Amino acid sequence: MKGVVLAGGSGSRLYPLTRITNKHLLPVYDKPMIFHPIETLVRAGIAEIMVVTGGNNAGDFLRLLGNGRDFGLKQIHYAYQEREGGVAEALSLAEDFVAGDRCVLVLGDNVIEDDISEFVAHFAAQPAGARILLKEIDDRRHLVHLGVAVLNDHRVVRIMEKPRDPPSAYAVTGVYMYDAGVFDIVRTLVPSGRGELEITDVINEYIRRGLMEYDILNGFWGDAGESIDHYMTVITYVAKHWRKRKARGRAS
Ligand code: G1P
Repeated sequence: MKGVVLAGGSGSRLYPLTRITNKHLLPVYDKPMIFHPIETLVRAGIAEIMVVTGGNNAGDFLRLLGNGRDFGLKQIHYAYQEREGGVAEALSLAEDFVAGDRCVLVLGDNVIEDDISEFVAHFAAQPAGARILLKEIDDRRHLVHLGVAVLNDHRVVRIMEKPRDPPSAYAVTGVYMYDAGVFDIVRTLVPSGRGELEITDVINEYIRRGLMEYDILNGFWGDAGESIDHYMTVITYVAKHWRKRKARGRAS
């Protein structure tokens, strides 16, 4: 199982914080944002990771992450995204790295409290297809900024991207697990209204084929790139709860 972390994009929702740097390099409490998704993958036992980035700050990732030794990795791989073509386009740059294996894709601005090992194990046990992680969010004003699952009898029947009228309380988080067929699906996509290859279209194709499963996250989940307010919500949560966790770790 390979891991892919996406860290491109203009980060315009966090302007002016991102005018001169990449949003994934901004701090989330005591670490750069991108450390969080990398640590999520490492904690799940994924030892081969590729970071896909682009823009003027691509070199900063190399300086920050080096060869990945600080995360206990033998090596981190890098790919450079030449244009902002969306999440699915960025994923396609990892095709040779994934090399026919399965992959867990995490968006570089997602901060996940749960250990996802169990969900990755569920995916490994799946004969084929894809798996997403959902998070229950009660605030409908928040859901309109996310992908939201349409559920019917505990099955995901569709994902609606940024729905005006959220069809459920289950948001699609930025953790996606795919079999090797994902790259063929990406090749069939057409750009959306915002000119991007949408990851939601990939998920909907797996659903159409009857090959999509899901798990529900229990702990905190946040997309730190969603807005400045949400960025602050994520930092505040991490500072309050994970500081305590660290202190407990030191005491034991
Ligand atoms: C992306 C996905 C969306 C998902 C979100 C999670 O949105 O398109 O479905 O809910 O990540 O972080 P974006 O951040 O590109 O607006």
